[in-house]
Amino acid sequence: DTSGKTITCRAAIAWKTGSTLAIEEVQVDPPKAREVRIKMISTGICGTDDHAVKGLLSINFPFIPGHEGAGIVESIGEGVSSVKPGDKVLTLAIPQCRECSSCLHPKGNFCEKQDVLPSSGLMLDKTSRFTCKGKKIYHSFRASTFTEYTVVPEIAVAKIDAAAPMDKVSIISCEVPTGYGAAVNSAKVTRGSTCVVFGLGGVGSAIVMGCKASGASRIIGVDINEEKFPRARALGVTDCLNPRNLKKPVQQVVMEMTRVGVDFAFEAIGLSDTMIAAWDSCHRSYGVCLMVGVASSNSQLSLNAPDIISGRTLKGVCLGDYKTRDCIPQLVTDYLQNKINIDPLITHQLPFDQLHKAFELYHAGKTIRCILLF
Ligand code: APR
Ligand code: ZN
Repeated sequence: DTSGKTITCRAAIAWKTGSTLAIEEVQVDPPKAREVRIKMISTGICGTDDHAVKGLLSINFPFIPGHEGAGIVESIGEGVSSVKPGDKVLTLAIPQCRECSSCLHPKGNFCEKQDVLPSSGLMLDKTSRFTCKGKKIYHSFRASTFTEYTVVPEIAVAKIDAAAPMDKVSIISCEVPTGYGAAVNSAKVTRGSTCVVFGLGGVGSAIVMGCKASGASRIIGVDINEEKFPRARALGVTDCLNPRNLKKPVQQVVMEMTRVGVDFAFEAIGLSDTMIAAWDSCHRSYGVCLMVGVASSNSQLSLNAPDIISGRTLKGVCLGDYKTRDCIPQLVTDYLQNKINIDPLITHQLPFDQLHKAFELYHAGKTIRCILLF
């Protein structure tokens, strides 16, 4: 029995900006009050983790990356009531405290207890549960999943169906709600509509699935890596565009293809330029543009001011606007009941100790999602 004791295990540490991750032996403290220690089973590699490791986001080093995780509760701290040891759970990069302004509002999901923007890398009591070689190691995004054991606040844990296949459902912790949810829940893509999706990686692919499931009649996919096109077409993309092979700006091409602009545009890359291209691809009057990608810290967005009044909607969205603890477990159940199929989003599965190979595949643009297995 490990409860109440410090656990020594393997974890990946980003020691400094841009350095390769190092697999180290770390000490993981027991959970304090209203915290949960989780034995990780699988974790996805998300674009946001790569941004974080490269130092593009405001985050404290050294830290343990990863936020898209599935695991089993090992032990709980005092006062934890929503999960117990042995429960299958997902980590949540956006918690749901059920007490703050966002949680109490009917629409908001960006809980005030989140630790993404900005990221302190600490638990709610402003301390860390990780130590390596006598040094304090920071957490990331209320999760830190590139480790055999992690500690997270109870408000950042979703209990899921006991039948969930743990080698796969980690992507329902982030990629699936972020992409699929942005289309079906946040934008509420309408039947027969025209959509454009910038970025056909993990998140973009999940957006395409959501557009397709909502009955969109045309889905334009944009990516600079044409290797992503065949899979995107299989998921529902009807037209593929590589901005590097176009003679005109991509938004102009989308305008010409659709004559009036799209009903729904999604950005799933995290760059100001593609955010503006998505915005300018929308119908001037009723077009809706959703920003899904996480942009680098301090980057700015510059829009033509007079054009704003024509009526377009610009909306940011994280985790599909879902109240995370309330809604994300249902996506797991929907998967078990064959109402959504997440399998096409998983292209690779590798053991945790092949983390470097997984990142190589990711950087080479070969993956939609690579899942690491513990
Ligand atoms: N124009 C078009 N496509 C681009 C460009 C560009 N300038 N730059 C990159 N891409 C494509 C890549 O080729 C890749 O297919 O965007 C895709 C990004 O996908 P992933 O790297 O798989 O990242 P993903 O996990 O999908 O996350 C995408 O959403 O959650 C955020 O922070 C995350 O910003 C990231 C974005
Ligand atoms: Zn809250």
